[in-house]
Amino acid sequence: MKTDVLVIGSGIAGLSFAIKTAEKRPDLDIIVLTKNSKDVCNTAHAQGGMAVVLDQISDSFEQHTEDTIRAGKGLNERNIVEMVVSQAPERLLELIEWGAKFDEDRYGDLELGLEGGHSQKRIIHHRDLTGREIYTKLRLKAKSLESIQFIDNYFVTDLLVGRSLCTGVTVLDKEDNQYKNIFSKITFLASGGSGMIFENTTNPAVATADGLAMAYRAGASIRDMSYIQFHPTALYEKDKHPLFLISEAVRGFGAYVVNHKGNRFLLQHDHRGELATRDIVSEAIVKELKISGEKSAFLDCRHLDYADFQEHFPTIVSYCLSIGIDIRIDLIPIVPAAHYQCGGIAVDVFARTSVKNLYASGECAHTGLHGANRLASNSLLEALVFSHQAAKVVLQEIDLIKAPETNANLSEKHTGPEADPTIISSLKIRLNELMTYDLLYSSGKDEKEGALQQLLMLLEILREDTPFNTGTTEFYELRNMVQTAVLILEDAIQHSKSRVIHI
Ligand code: SIN
Repeated sequence: MKTDVLVIGSGIAGLSFAIKTAEKRPDLDIIVLTKNSKDVCNTAHAQGGMAVVLDQISDSFEQHTEDTIRAGKGLNERNIVEMVVSQAPERLLELIEWGAKFDEDRYGDLELGLEGGHSQKRIIHHRDLTGREIYTKLRLKAKSLESIQFIDNYFVTDLLVGRSLCTGVTVLDKEDNQYKNIFSKITFLASGGSGMIFENTTNPAVATADGLAMAYRAGASIRDMSYIQFHPTALYEKDKHPLFLISEAVRGFGAYVVNHKGNRFLLQHDHRGELATRDIVSEAIVKELKISGEKSAFLDCRHLDYADFQEHFPTIVSYCLSIGIDIRIDLIPIVPAAHYQCGGIAVDVFARTSVKNLYASGECAHTGLHGANRLASNSLLEALVFSHQAAKVVLQEIDLIKAPETNANLSEKHTGPEADPTIISSLKIRLNELMTYDLLYSSGKDEKEGALQQLLMLLEILREDTPFNTGTTEFYELRNMVQTAVLILEDAIQHSKSRVIHI
């Protein structure tokens, strides 16, 4: 199979890139691959919204820039932050043109919410389903464009890269269990993040670091992998993986974070209290849990206007009710959970990776926007801006790219006839046990080194020709996660003295 443009992943980054490219060049063949059901991606899980400065009188691009850099501990690239922030209104208008709807106030203006780390209300939202609204409308728009072909259930195992040039991918077709090559002039990675590596995560089950690991194997530069953001308010449910997210916007709406005695404690850590950035709130909660020995802290929404709360957060209210929590009476148990990978595949201002004709956008990419800690509601915006930037350059350059040779052999795949899937699931449990908040943020170098040795042993067990290779997506996902966990820990060890992590 061959195509002009191959997009891996169908969240906001992949779809917006495909739409822009197809609208300007309907003659190009564009394929969008998803590894399983089309409705599962991180975009659709984003509850809060998108940060946009709409009113230059009470807010400004400068303030959004400074908030982003303060949240990122100054490790952001200022020129990138400025570019992203200043493109936000234009990218929002495009979303609206493509059909996305956002909540309005009683005057018919877009209603702006507040979230941690923002000095102004600037979050546009669609109740607590902003990501789903954007995703649904992008999907409809992309489906209306004839040159975009969607293929589901294709799991990309590796990139086809020779002499630092990407010419496509190898996939495992989950329907007939065959490996196939797809050749392309441009390959666009929009494959999301890596939350499933961790003990607790808010990410959906598909977030298994596939794009990142395959780009690394193909020789692409990777940056700042230890900058893993933990969201402070994942709903704690014993033995649940992943966890349900309670949006940052709930704290912006006035909810309190309290301990098991019902006492607020965040003001002891930061004068912004509940509206401090996620790193600070997460660290404060973890410290509180260590002191109390409890399993979770709590969100207290009991003092808030219930009708108004329900209007803004219907999904959260109904999820809580489904597990017996009535927010008018009960506290919501919360724990910090891995939420966003701030590092990733290094890209330039046009989303180009260090491998020719390979682009990356969205959570799998490192653009320089987030520094060590992403500001709330900057991720959908980043994906839109970098996919826009990529489309500009791809449209200029695609006619100059020679169609790749399509006679490359399929790389040899090994499937152990005796491979036992239960081994893969127990190794995954082991990975999750190792990769905790404490390992990244509290442990010393020796503990990190010890965990890294264990991960390297796991990686050895998961090499392509291992007898444990089941030839299934579970095997390849686990291999990608372990590979990425190694990169995270190596970066954490290298930088543990001076960076992130240490709030
Ligand atoms: C949230 O609603 O808290 C998640 C949105 C984000 O990660 O920015």
